[in-house]
Amino acid sequence: SAELRELLLGRIRDVPDYPQPGVVFKDITPLLADPAAFGALVDALAALADRHGATKVVGLEARGFILAAPAAARAGIGFVPVRKAGKLPGKTLAQSYELEYGTAEIEVQTDAFAAGDRVLVIDDVLATGGTAEASLELIRRAGATVAGVAVLLELGFLGGRERLAPALDGAPLDTLVAV
Ligand code: PRP
Ligand code: MG
Repeated sequence: SAELRELLLGRIRDVPDYPQPGVVFKDITPLLADPAAFGALVDALAALADRHGATKVVGLEARGFILAAPAAARAGIGFVPVRKAGKLPGKTLAQSYELEYGTAEIEVQTDAFAAGDRVLVIDDVLATGGTAEASLELIRRAGATVAGVAVLLELGFLGGRERLAPALDGAPLDTLVAV
């Protein structure tokens, strides 16, 4: 709703020239520190998990964890961490993706999902879409179905929605605030 959008947007702080000159960083820490805003955000994400019939929530390390774990608990379904490479024990699947400079790698445990699992991916920000795109690849390789992607903030000018479309393959992308 418009009220939720205003509540959330009003608690996201612009930090100029971070982490490098010319970049305006979107700082969500004021939102996390406000129980009314954070509670409304977690409720909205949990409602999306319900609406899309998700049976698991994936959070993308690190900032995605902060939103995805409470949303999963609120929705009454399990939480699965997708972590940066080298952090998960046991057998894992890895997926590389392009960064502005160089590449990164994320992993999930091979036994994270049961047959028939439908996964909602939650992250804080959709920028270029590279992180979310890699997570969808990983989830399908681990044998689960993509129920959707939900993010707090979409940076529309970076074209993440367009980049993510093929990987979504018809699954919904919900962004609570778009700038
Ligand atoms: C940030 C953000 C998203 C991702 C979005 O994470 O939290 O996960 O970038 O960018 P993209 O759409 O261009 O892939 P980052 O990798 O900086 O690390 P963090 O979450 O561990 O802070
Ligand atoms: Mg991140």
